Amino acid sequence: MYKFVIKGGKKLSGNVVVSGAKNASLALMPASLLSPGTFRIDNTPDLRDVTTMSQLMESLGAKVSLKGKLQVIDTTGVEKFEAPYELVKKMRASIYVLGPLLGRYGYAKVSMPGGCAWGPRPVNLHIEGMEKLGAEVTLDSGYIIARAKKLRGARINFDVSSVGATGNIMMAAVLAKGTTVISNAALEPEIVALGEFLEKMGAHIEGLGTPTVTIEGVEDLSPADFENIPDRIEAGTFLVAGAMAGGRVKVSNCKPADLTSLLVKLEGAGAKLETGKDTITIEAPGQIKPVDVSTAPYPGFPTDMQAQWIAFMALATGSSILTETIYFDRFKHVPELVRLGADIEVKENIAIVKGVKSLKGAKVMSTDLRASASLILAGLVAEGTTEVLRIYHMDRGYERMEEKLRGLGADIERVQSDEF
Ligand code: UD1
Repeated sequence: MYKFVIKGGKKLSGNVVVSGAKNASLALMPASLLSPGTFRIDNTPDLRDVTTMSQLMESLGAKVSLKGKLQVIDTTGVEKFEAPYELVKKMRASIYVLGPLLGRYGYAKVSMPGGCAWGPRPVNLHIEGMEKLGAEVTLDSGYIIARAKKLRGARINFDVSSVGATGNIMMAAVLAKGTTVISNAALEPEIVALGEFLEKMGAHIEGLGTPTVTIEGVEDLSPADFENIPDRIEAGTFLVAGAMAGGRVKVSNCKPADLTSLLVKLEGAGAKLETGKDTITIEAPGQIKPVDVSTAPYPGFPTDMQAQWIAFMALATGSSILTETIYFDRFKHVPELVRLGADIEVKENIAIVKGVKSLKGAKVMSTDLRASASLILAGLVAEGTTEVLRIYHMDRGYERMEEKLRGLGADIERVQSDEF
């Protein structure tokens, strides 16, 4: 196990390059199950979640390699159709193999993902969607077992906007017979990237990036190459780091338009921003103005930036309110931020953040991926030394985080640790 040891108070400045999007990779990889052959996906991040998805794909019979940023997937040898509990419990996104396996092979057995650190995360929309497409789905000994001779296009309306269910249904519907219309489809850039990859494979899709996605099923698909999009949450995390501990920080290889909701809030807090084609430069505010935020599906403020935003607001000149509308219990970082001296109260799905003058270093524990990011950000500005334990959560979704932060001038070390 490793921990981060951060000596706070170093001003950040310089350029940081964003990696490929984790959440896009986790959808693109299983999409390759839809055709036998060799796929090349460039700008793939080297992350623990990507390794877990590679292990899952390999357990199905695919070959996956990552050299630099180029991932090569060969799906010729796929002959198993089961996602075992051991892998799904490590990463919920494993459920993404359900749609492509069912669509192509007519059978999939996927362990039910349980809850996660921030509460229950159901998969009912995935299952109901597959049933609408004509699959027979049973739940047996903790597994979802789905069967269909040939899926048939259907009209599917999601009661809540779901990234995973939209992606999974898209992957199932591209090989179904006839037309599938998904309404209240997720608009997230990672879903658009998945759709564009499927189109490169020969799928017929209309309305990507809109709430109504129409898919005309085709007989078969072919392997394709693709360039993954940049990780907007990683970019957002470095922008908040710049807002808290800059200086001037330039975030490169990002898509400014995908980050609009965050950029508006950063400006509201007093940060100065300059955007280029694929860069955003942030100048930290002298004083951080309190700004209320409510999380929402894209293009709203991402729930995956909520923990980092709370760390930022902990140092504002007044009180702000954070409303979490996607995952009501996603506040495990709050008691840890309080240990660093933040003044935050959580009532149901609302966090009331009263800005304090400074934070003070302490030992804190990360409980999930974005919680770990918020603790690292807080540690960068806290007085003295902060130790962030259990950084394996961070390794799931941030590539070389400490190296990138050191490049900006942070004093952060990865240290072996037996502490839990
Ligand atoms: C994805 C992201 C995750 C992000 C989340 C919300 C990936 C791999 N993960 O997760 O980082 O935090 O989107 O932006 O892309 N829901 C149901 N039934 C379902 C599915 C979802 O009720 O069958 C609910 C969830 O509980 C949640 C909301 O829908 O309240 C949105 O969840 P969803 O978009 O599905 O999240 P994920 O795809 O799991």
